[in-house]
Amino acid sequence: MNDQRDFEYIVRTKKKDFTKADELFNIRYARFARSFHRQIPGYKMTSLKSLANLAHMIGLEGIYIKDESERLHLNSFKVMGGSFAIARFIQKKLNLSDEQLSYEYLVSPECHEKLKDMTFASATDGNHGRGIAWASMKLNLKCVIYVHKYTSQARIDAIRNYGARVEVIDGNYDDAVRQIAIDAEKYGWQIISDTSWPGYEEIPTWIMQGYTTIMLEAQEEFAGLGIIRPTHIFVQAGVGALAAATIGFYASLFKDDPPKFIVVEPDKAACIFETAKYNDGTLHNITGSLDTIMAGLACGEASPIAWSVLDGTVDAFMKVPDYTSARGMRILAVPLKGDPFVISGESGAVPLGALYSIMTEEGSEGLKAVLGLNEKSNVLIINTEGNTDPTHFRQIIWDGLDNVPKDYLTRK
Ligand SMILES: Cc1ncc(COP(=O)(O)O)c(C=O)c1O
Repeated sequence: MNDQRDFEYIVRTKKKDFTKADELFNIRYARFARSFHRQIPGYKMTSLKSLANLAHMIGLEGIYIKDESERLHLNSFKVMGGSFAIARFIQKKLNLSDEQLSYEYLVSPECHEKLKDMTFASATDGNHGRGIAWASMKLNLKCVIYVHKYTSQARIDAIRNYGARVEVIDGNYDDAVRQIAIDAEKYGWQIISDTSWPGYEEIPTWIMQGYTTIMLEAQEEFAGLGIIRPTHIFVQAGVGALAAATIGFYASLFKDDPPKFIVVEPDKAACIFETAKYNDGTLHNITGSLDTIMAGLACGEASPIAWSVLDGTVDAFMKVPDYTSARGMRILAVPLKGDPFVISGESGAVPLGALYSIMTEEGSEGLKAVLGLNEKSNVLIINTEGNTDPTHFRQIIWDGLDNVPKDYLTRK
């Protein structure tokens, strides 16, 4: 085994501050989001899958995968944010009370009459755009989605399937975000963005609060297993909205005894890692093609509002090579005997790949010790997507694309 780790990490020594987490993710917001989501036809809790055999093999008590590939047949968690933010936006626009805000009202002819000239718009790397297109279709409203030029055809087609107009922008995800902000102003579209920027924070906050339905469900599922809370949470980050929501929820709920929080990014698009590294109170961007297989995490600019939560809560930041995610996908798809299989895409599997690296690679002992990862640990991971790019999924799982270099092969 190579004694050199193949990932980089930063352990946060900064004093924790959960104020922002509590302000945005107090459990009452999660309960409200959940009460909205459960009205959506077809809503059901996604499974929390236990990989007990893998956990024992690598020296942990439990690994629990919240499987968002099952979410409303949309193959990703993203719709939880977009649907809730659109609901909140309409609530505010039409001056509805919390009690008046119902799914039934949103899809009613009366509501449509008031909104029929609206167009929702967003930039995306795929999954968020699909969620917004889906929600717009349910409301019978127009939707425009900008994708960047590295977006795969499968992801574009999946958005068009829900009736949205899709434009391909020359540049990366962050360029698409900037372009749609300009065009929305010009054409009067309403942006529903998962990332924030100065002066545009309310909708991204609603999106993050929408994600917390996932954590509320996970807590109910843990309760059913007699587990009060996970000891560790590994969460992947693009702009950091999901990470902020996940960590913010748990930090607010377990202020006095929080789990350890670890944020994982692709090494080619690690804007949150970079921001943590400089630790100078400003965001640090990554530019260029952001050429990673983890399409959902290919973001070079963190969401400021997400960072304001992560800054006070995270225990460690990691950046990992692409093959770590490919290995995670294979471990999930072909599990140890007795463990359930999980279909996980490139952005979904990376936290498991990162956990596997820490637990099996020499040179990781320091991190393992600081985080207290041991046979008493119960780790929560969110599988944020299924095979959202089916051909690439098969190339990785069947054809062995993005293979692990010899020095880092599994040894037992
Ligand atoms: C599958 C998947 N996982 C994780 C993320 C990361 O979410 P965020 O950009 O909020 O960090 C995304 C974002 O698009 C995604 O599509």
